Amino acid sequence: MLVSAKEMLEKAKAGHYAVGQFNINNLEWTKSILLTAQELKSPVILGVSEGAGKYMTGFKTVAAMVKAMDEELGITVPVALHLDHGTYEGCYKCIKAGFTSIMFDGSHYPIEENVAKTTELVNIAHAMGMSIEAEVGAIGGEEDGVVGTGECADPAECKMIADLGVDMLAAGIGNIHGKYPANWAGLSFDTLDAIQQKTGDMPLVLHGGTGIPADMIKKAISLGVAKINVNTECQLSFQEATRKYIEAGKDLEGKGFDPRKLLAPGAEAIKATVKEKMELFGSVGKAE
Ligand code: 13P
Repeated sequence: MLVSAKEMLEKAKAGHYAVGQFNINNLEWTKSILLTAQELKSPVILGVSEGAGKYMTGFKTVAAMVKAMDEELGITVPVALHLDHGTYEGCYKCIKAGFTSIMFDGSHYPIEENVAKTTELVNIAHAMGMSIEAEVGAIGGEEDGVVGTGECADPAECKMIADLGVDMLAAGIGNIHGKYPANWAGLSFDTLDAIQQKTGDMPLVLHGGTGIPADMIKKAISLGVAKINVNTECQLSFQEATRKYIEAGKDLEGKGFDPRKLLAPGAEAIKATVKEKMELFGSVGKAE
């Protein structure tokens, strides 16, 4: 069931768990994530970066595929189709394409410009029944060409953006996209605590979910995080399983070259990663 992310995140915040956003790249990714969410009776958010949208030939293709797949697979749990780190132009494209949720990442603009653009997009998204995420304080690392330094957001600026009526707020707390370096200082819980105190019931979003230790994830949820984004970890699981298949020479046996066989171990590995994260985030059974 394709829905805006608003209600599922409000419930998550009130119930002290988090909904996972898993980024998609193709049909296999989407199918694995949807089937796992349905099996575990968990709400889920499918994240689409601008790069992944382009790879899949455009946001219209993505929206059509996700809507059709959701229906054909008989998915009954709430699913939000969400633009990840959207530009101003990308947000408009996804609004037109039929996404149910967008993220406008204005964190690299001066705060006044972030406020102005976010305000405009909040009005449009809400008029269309869509949810919207905004960002303050860039997330570190690189994701599909979006590079950030990993700063900690200013809680006062977070309040300014939260007050614009966004449905979820991504705030930098030392989190980084991709693998964490060995010398990573960890999440800044003091920053997160200060942000939650200023923003109250606002569901907070933790980007860079790959590789964050379980105890830090749990603490972040206890301090108001209600959405956690995972991208790289599914890519790594897919890669590892596919490598094993090839290295074992399975593609050379019988019809092992058939893409439906070749991609199957990777697709199963994505399911296992999504399951592990949903269990850790506490969203299992919340869509019953
Ligand atoms: P990771 O790739 O580090 O899991 O980050 C995902 C993310 O934050 C998507 O916006």
